[in-house]
Amino acid sequence: MEAHLMAARKWTTEQIPSQTGRTALVTGANSGIGYQSALELARSGAHVLLGCRNAAKGRAALDRLLRGAAGARAEVVELDMASLASVRAFAMTFAERGIVLDLLINNAGVMALPTRELTQDGFERQFGTNHLGHFALTGLLMPQLLASPAPRVVTVASLAHRNGKIEFDNLQSERKYKPWDAYGASKLANILFAKELDRRARAAHSTLVSVAVHPGVSTTNIIENGPGSNGLKAMVLKIVAPVIMQPDAAGALPTLYAATSPNARGGEYVGPDGWMEMKGSPVEVQPRANGLDTAVGARLWTVSEALTGVTYPALV
Ligand SMILES: NC(=O)c1ccc[n+]([C@@H]2O[C@H](COP(=O)([O-])OP(=O)(O)OC[C@H]3O[C@@H](n4cnc5c(N)ncnc54)[C@H](OP(=O)(O)O)[C@@H]3O)[C@@H](O)[C@H]2O)c1
Repeated sequence: MEAHLMAARKWTTEQIPSQTGRTALVTGANSGIGYQSALELARSGAHVLLGCRNAAKGRAALDRLLRGAAGARAEVVELDMASLASVRAFAMTFAERGIVLDLLINNAGVMALPTRELTQDGFERQFGTNHLGHFALTGLLMPQLLASPAPRVVTVASLAHRNGKIEFDNLQSERKYKPWDAYGASKLANILFAKELDRRARAAHSTLVSVAVHPGVSTTNIIENGPGSNGLKAMVLKIVAPVIMQPDAAGALPTLYAATSPNARGGEYVGPDGWMEMKGSPVEVQPRANGLDTAVGARLWTVSEALTGVTYPALV
């Protein structure tokens, strides 16, 4: 096909190259975007680990996945991103299995919890789950990732990063808690982390590729699990949902593109190409200036190391 026609062609799951021989871990894989990502990776031949905090939900998701991807190699692994003990236990078990990790999808997330909640480690739950848990998981799995010939880390951020601020004196919302501010900060942290990881991988001459993505606005369980359907924003979202939102399978496309396309490059931010990036096909998009602040990204990295006790000795 001519090059300009190739460029105009919208990316779909049909363009996922065979993932046979690759092992992928997807956090929060029992629902929404994580489930759809796991399903398509399994269909493409990857050995997929579904990281789930709830064993029953994990089993139900695996059953559903195997019905949609007959013969797939998939399994549920216990992984609570709101617990550093759980993250450490998983990483240790995974290392003991002696397999390499080719693809890590940092997807699990909670949004706009109405009241300030804390994780087992005393972190504000959104910052702790969405950012710190994944920072720790990625660092602890780094030896298994770097053992892969072509490791990738995909971190799922959000349009909500645009209103996010990293307030180093209020990281756990200890001074003030606003549900959407805490969510925005955690999703901004996802972008800053993905970009800083990419910078460090390049500096270390590693083949590791780190890409941030956002799914636009997608119908999943995240509203019910977070603000619920009574909040004003949630009510507005429900009314406009049919117009602006896309199904979870479409919301997973930026993740799947970043995870598998030979054209995805480290340090990119990928999202939908439609109106206001709310839905559409995956393309490179740009975060707001706050997502490009390398000084804040570097400082957040150091603070995250201190808070989690996880460092990245191979990528200093
Ligand atoms: N949907 C959207 O429009 C949208 C927009 C922007 C960004 N995102 C991002 O997309 C990602 C996936 O969200 P989604 O929309 O697919 O929502 P979802 O359907 O609610 O899925 C979230 C997943 O994360 C899991 N999870 C939450 N806390 C966890 C923890 N402590 N440990 C392990 N897993 C945990 C949930 O597990 P349980 O089922 O056990 O709760 C669920 O599997 C999130 O990072 C979210 O911020 C979504």
